Amino acid sequence: MAEQKPTVTQDDIAAGLRRCGLRRGDKVLVHSSLSAFGRVEGGAQAVIRALLAVLGAEGTLMMPTFSQGKVEVWDHDRTPSFNGRISETFRIMPGVRRSWHPTHAYAAIGPDATRYLEGDYRYVTWGPESPLGRLIADGGWVMLMGCGHGASTAQHHGEVAGNVRCFGIDTSPVLFYDQEGELTGAVAPSWRSGVCPWSARDHERQLRYLGAVRDTYIGAAHVQLIKGEMVIKAVVRLVTGLTGIDHCASCRQHPDTEMFENYRRRYPADKPSRGEPWR
Ligand SMILES: CC(C)(COP(=O)(O)OP(=O)(O)OC[C@H]1O[C@@H](n2cnc3c(N)ncnc32)[C@H](O)[C@@H]1OP(=O)(O)O)[C@@H](O)C(=O)NCCC(=O)NCCS
Repeated sequence: MAEQKPTVTQDDIAAGLRRCGLRRGDKVLVHSSLSAFGRVEGGAQAVIRALLAVLGAEGTLMMPTFSQGKVEVWDHDRTPSFNGRISETFRIMPGVRRSWHPTHAYAAIGPDATRYLEGDYRYVTWGPESPLGRLIADGGWVMLMGCGHGASTAQHHGEVAGNVRCFGIDTSPVLFYDQEGELTGAVAPSWRSGVCPWSARDHERQLRYLGAVRDTYIGAAHVQLIKGEMVIKAVVRLVTGLTGIDHCASCRQHPDTEMFENYRRRYPADKPSRGEPWR
């Protein structure tokens, strides 16, 4: 028998977000999968409207709109998000601002948006001066809507805080059009050369051990809400051996100094996300 997908409305989503613990005035970074809900009446826009309805005018909503170096040249206004339809629809929503980091740009709306996004291209994308670092320092939340902890960028903030040896600087500059419209090169972070010895499941287990996960289902989507600072705490425990297993001690991964070139070569078919035009 064919599996029946649930249908959810904007009101169902708003009710689910409140059930999960999201409140008016919160600051939250959202990672998402639209298809995970089942069928959303009104599509990606209904999800975004539900988030904004719960947060109210005092809240700040942020989403990743990363290219992750998957394009040859990054353009602030034209390069879409590669992080799903909800994030790309959010990026093009009237009133939403996007930061200028050529591989890891965020989009945000709300009273703290400008402060979070400002000047992020000057800083390590997984560090405290990045948009997500600033949101976390403000007591902000990370929400996973229908995707797992492997999609959670905040975990890399934990890796940086735990001084992992497998992150560094990519020596192949990423090209982008800067705010003056000039084609410019920028150095970007480099990623480990292979697979990490701990998994997203280990990370989730730590979060649950710390009692840090609030979760619910909205339609078929497992939705999780975690304080950003707890994501960092859980990952620091993992990478410094505080869990009893020192995953990183014997790990041989090192920074891949041509990460983005290799990435494009390895995943040539990666497609940018498609947004829904706002009516
Ligand atoms: C990769 C990922 C985006 C894929 O999720 P997905 O649900 O398959 O894709 P999207 O969120 O882009 O949603 C588009 C899909 O939703 C479905 N869809 C379309 N309209 C829909 C609706 N009204 N209701 C529900 N689903 C719908 C379609 O299957 C569509 O796919 P198609 O464009 O190929 O037809 C998701 O698994 C993920 O990892 N999200 C987090 C990404 C992230 O934040 N990364 C940052 C750091 S690594």
